[in-house]
Amino acid sequence: MGSVTFIASPFDVEHVIYVESQRHTTLLSLARELPWPAHKTCGQGLCGACAVKIMFRDRERAMTQVTLSPDEKTLLYRAGKLTDAEYRAAHIPAHPAFWRLACQYVVEDEDILVFA
Ligand code: FES
Repeated sequence: MGSVTFIASPFDVEHVIYVESQRHTTLLSLARELPWPAHKTCGQGLCGACAVKIMFRDRERAMTQVTLSPDEKTLLYRAGKLTDAEYRAAHIPAHPAFWRLACQYVVEDEDILVFA
């Protein structure tokens, strides 16, 4: 079982959701269960409004994180979430992307922190 901790800002209460690994749900689906600022979004990887920063509690897990898809990488770059250097490095394995689209990120058996 993994856990997802949503943190809206340093001053807000954290929301923790425990996720069964076989649930195959996205971060956006989990966020919609909470008072989280990701409700009015396309849900299809088109608008970029669901961009969140992710940190793994397990550093080794972070280094095995899959790389961004070309569409996700481009949308995050256009939204100003990736620098030029991060955009160029986003396809390199073992170079984890901290910004992700919540609608495209499928939660696995992992413990992560999610920042809006
Ligand atoms: Fe629009 Fe994720 S909800 S890109």
